[in-house]
Amino acid sequence: MTNDEAGAGGAPSAEAGAGRAVGGGPGAGGAPGAGTGMPLIPIIPTATKPLNEGSGDTFYEQVGGRATFERLVRAFYAGVASDPVLVAMYPEDDLEGAIQRLTGFLEQYWGGPTTYSQERGHPRLRMRHNPFKVNPDARDRWLSHMHSAVLSLDLPPLQEATLWDYLERAAHAMVNTFDE
Ligand code: HEM
Repeated sequence: MTNDEAGAGGAPSAEAGAGRAVGGGPGAGGAPGAGTGMPLIPIIPTATKPLNEGSGDTFYEQVGGRATFERLVRAFYAGVASDPVLVAMYPEDDLEGAIQRLTGFLEQYWGGPTTYSQERGHPRLRMRHNPFKVNPDARDRWLSHMHSAVLSLDLPPLQEATLWDYLERAAHAMVNTFDE
């Protein structure tokens, strides 16, 4: 497994532990929910529909579906818009597109519709972040806006912790330079 796949691929294989941490999704591969209290979900390929979609069992459905992820991402981008370092990295003429891409990725990761991969292909998040300078400063700014956004959802404590734990680990995996 390459570093890129490990950081962002989420290939649902026996070695997908690191991949699942970022890209694969608990609804899409590996034994999910260890220590999170989440229900067990069968191991299935990333691009197929989660077997339990519609059953109310996915984290995606438990937290309120697409509307919740869109609220999260819109709150996050409101923070990004106020951040001089981050705002320079994002496409100012396509912020709505960026909102839709991140929302689509997150809803897919958590067991919702797989529209993201149908439109964008395999997430390969580390590779997609290569054009950007994701150093510890950018990561911490990203995380600070994302933390405010997560808190704004006012989720039950376990769901809030589950979501935040993933985002924090994913952001650490996305760092691609230590240049200032
Ligand atoms: C650690 C700091 C991070 C920075 C500075 C950063 C920055 C960026 C930027 C500038 C873009 C381009 C916006 C666009 O046109 O879509 C982007 C895209 C994206 N980011 Fe991040 N990101 C970070 C972490 C993350 C994390 C932790 C995730 C996932 C949990 C993530 C998921 C995505 C996704 C799904 C896209 C769109 C990919 C595509 O389909 O093109 N990012 N990010």
